[in-house]
Parts: sequence; structure tokens; C-alpha cells
Amino acid sequence: ARTAAVIPAAGRGVRLGPGAPKALRALGGTPMLIHAVRAMAASRAVSLVVVVAPPEGAAEVRSLLDAHALPERTDFVVVPGGQSRQESVRLGLDALPPGHDIVLVHDAARPLVPVDTVDAVIEAVREGAPAVVPALPLADTVKQVEPARAPGEPEPVVATPERARLRAVQTPQGFDRETLVRAHRTVTGDVTDDAGMVEQLGLTVVAVPGHEEAFKVTRPLDLVLAEAVLARRRL
Ligand code: CTP
Ligand code: MG
Repeated sequence: ARTAAVIPAAGRGVRLGPGAPKALRALGGTPMLIHAVRAMAASRAVSLVVVVAPPEGAAEVRSLLDAHALPERTDFVVVPGGQSRQESVRLGLDALPPGHDIVLVHDAARPLVPVDTVDAVIEAVREGAPAVVPALPLADTVKQVEPARAPGEPEPVVATPERARLRAVQTPQGFDRETLVRAHRTVTGDVTDDAGMVEQLGLTVVAVPGHEEAFKVTRPLDLVLAEAVLARRRL
């Protein structure tokens, strides 16, 4: 089964602070998006990468892909994204040609995911899971609260889920293509990950071990960590 990767990269990166769209910001001198594209193309199973670009930035992303060395065995398609991550992923799925039965969805904001994690996700889909997420145990205890009405107000704690049963999920998430397309056609409402949409179809999602280096660059401190991880790799 051939595998395609959809990379939503259309976000603005508000939490990272002012500047270019997050996916286009430099990490070790190279745009974060290029790292994410290379991470997907590094898997021998991935023969197509669809990049969902910032709405006004598709031409810029196309020239970035042309300017950087990428594996010859991989095809690249660029489409403009939408207002929400969910919409951007759907626009990426719409651009998939026939012939790819497995689809990965990977955040441009996770530039440093190791290829072994990518391959483990693909392998679990090949073995029959309709949806697969890389996941890690949590370091912090998590509390459910009654959210405050005004910022800074104390929030009553409602529950403490057993930490050993919780996981933080990463990307790439892997899917049977048909299942993911159906989920994006039928599930509405606020969702922060694609596997969550498949859960809403009533299907079983499985978790495989994630990787520390697959963390998401969200805030300025994450960029400091990403630079350090990259520098260590280049030693
Ligand atoms: N994304 C997207 N289209 C959107 C919003 C987000 O393709 N309309 C992508 C981002 O580019 C990112 C991934 O979804 O690769 C995860 O989103 P997040 O980390 O929240 O990135 P941003 O939305 O850019 O950041 P912020 O929420 O801080 O603005
Ligand atoms: Mg966002």
C-alpha cells in the first residue's frame, strides 16, 4: 500500500509571537516546514507529500520546496489552506490523487519527528488499524477544572484522571485513507486532532510509542528546545 503525507502548515503561529507564519520560520537556518517535509519523505514508504500552505503563501512554499534538496522518489503537491486546522487538512485530502491507501497527517509544527516514529505509525496502519497515533506518557499530573469566567480567577478542580492511563498524542497520525476521508466528510464541531474524528465514527484508534523529539513548536521556549535538539543532531 502506498502512503501519502498531508502536512497542515497554514497556521499563523499566534502563540509563537509576531513574525512570519510559523511553518516558514527558520530552525537551524531552514524553514520549519522543510524539516517537517524531510521528516515525512525520509520514510521509504512515503511517495507523496501534500503541503497545505498559508492561504496567501502557496507560491512561496512551492519555491521553497524547489530550492531545498528533497528525495527524488517523493512527489510534492502544494495547496492553500483554510481558517482552521481541520479545514486545512480537508483541503489537503481533497488534493490527494488516487492510489495512496494510507494517509499520514503531520503538523508542520513538529519538525523534528524521527523517521522511526513515522515508520511505526505506518506499520500499525498496515497491520489493520484504521487510525494510529504516536503517544507519550505524561510527566505532569492533569486536573479537570471548571474553567474560570475571567482570566486569572481560581478554578475549581473537578477531577484528577489517573495519570498512568493518559497519553499526550503527537503526529504523524496514520489512517486508512477511506476512513479519514469519511471522518472529514461527516464529523463536525471542534476537534484538535484527526484521530478524534475517527473516534467519533465509533472506530478504534490505537496508540503506538511516540518520541520526545516529535514535540510541537508552539511557544517561544519550544523554539529554543528545537534549536538545541537540532544542534545536538549535527554534532
Ligand atoms: N494549521 C493549518 N491551518 C490552520 C491552522 C493551523 O494548517 N488554519 C496547522 C499549523 O500550521 C500547524 C498545525 O496545524 O502546523 C498545528 O497547529 P498549531 O500548532 O496550533 O499552529 P498555529 O495554528 O499556526 O499556531 P497558533 O495556534 O499559535 O496560532
Ligand atoms: Mg493553532
